[in-house]
Amino acid sequence: MVASKGIDRYPGGLNLTGRLQSNGTELKINLGLKLENGKLIQAHGGSILHFDGIFYWFGENKAGRTKPAKPNGPALNRVDVIGISVYSSRDLLNWKNEGLALRGGDGAGHPDLAFRGIVERPRVLYHAASRRFVMWLHIDDEKYKTARLGIAVASKPAGPYIYRRSFRPHGEESRDFTVYQDDDGFAYIAYSSEGNRVMHLARLASTLDDVVPGFERALVGQSRESPVIFKCAGVYFLFTSGCTGWEPNRAEVFYASALLGQTWRSLGDPCVGGASARRTFMAQATFALPVPGSPGRFLLMADRWNQERLGVSRYIWLPLFVVEAPTAERLRAMPAERERSRVRRGDRERVVKPAARAVPADAALGLDVVVRWHHEWDVQTLDVLPQPRSRGQPL
Ligand code: DGJ
Repeated sequence: MVASKGIDRYPGGLNLTGRLQSNGTELKINLGLKLENGKLIQAHGGSILHFDGIFYWFGENKAGRTKPAKPNGPALNRVDVIGISVYSSRDLLNWKNEGLALRGGDGAGHPDLAFRGIVERPRVLYHAASRRFVMWLHIDDEKYKTARLGIAVASKPAGPYIYRRSFRPHGEESRDFTVYQDDDGFAYIAYSSEGNRVMHLARLASTLDDVVPGFERALVGQSRESPVIFKCAGVYFLFTSGCTGWEPNRAEVFYASALLGQTWRSLGDPCVGGASARRTFMAQATFALPVPGSPGRFLLMADRWNQERLGVSRYIWLPLFVVEAPTAERLRAMPAERERSRVRRGDRERVVKPAARAVPADAALGLDVVVRWHHEWDVQTLDVLPQPRSRGQPL
């Protein structure tokens, strides 16, 4: 219920409007209630592939009836598998429904795609050498016990995708995940594993349809899911949610200088603006789309789940910025805060020492990640870099 109440409480997410300058044209994104031939966009838990000047938005089609969780049945409210939708757009405003990129259901020809299962969070990579598109999926049973990755391939970006197989990477559980292709062509995966308590990271094979042997454990014991990876100024960021089913929770972003071989350090919760910021604006992030030609600027895509009626869950897109923040050295050089408040207690005046100066999320990094709530935003919003989360901003 909380998720659906949240929708009413924060109507900005219902009809978020933004404008994005791209290729010289002013564009308008209107995602919350975007109708496509009279129907809601069905692209939940989605991601975007930008290929040949076209944005392809892949996501779960949840247009069916929401079935409640039951003690001996589904672990969570769910919709029978329909498949993976794809929408295409040249401008992020006008979306064309390209239908199902991957058809699911009992007639789809593979038990992994059966109605009773779970097919979530599609991500698509382009494999240039073979000119194939590789779709990665979270494949599960209705109790989220099988915890596998699925692979489907296509010769065209919008599909149709042919389902190949599922597997447990490195023999380990894989639930929420994301894949990320770096500038050098190497691709990586992050997946929630070990009962969602640990994030695993690994490199993908050069064929982009498998993992290479060996993985690293990160965020051990921190129970993070819904990983979103983005990069700025040579730093990798990992945006995550907590694990509370369909309920929104607090975001936390981590950073490292490489996807593998480094310790991920927390930058805390990057969401600011309004009470709902502490619950990721009543949503769960799913993907960060780099704004073309604008380093440090991303469109953060998030799902505002409606667990009573999953098929009417909304989408929120907000600008995400990587901004410069004071480094530890600069902070040390700053003069101590001078204000001291005076409190009268009886006839004695007590000088209250200033609260220990809160430091930016990570003073060593010199960068901060900021996602600010906007009921509406436009292209100018992307032009104005926000302040790093100020000293004193709760982490
Ligand atoms: C949160 C995950 O991020 C979603 O993809 C989905 O698996 C839900 N949990 C199910 O509760």
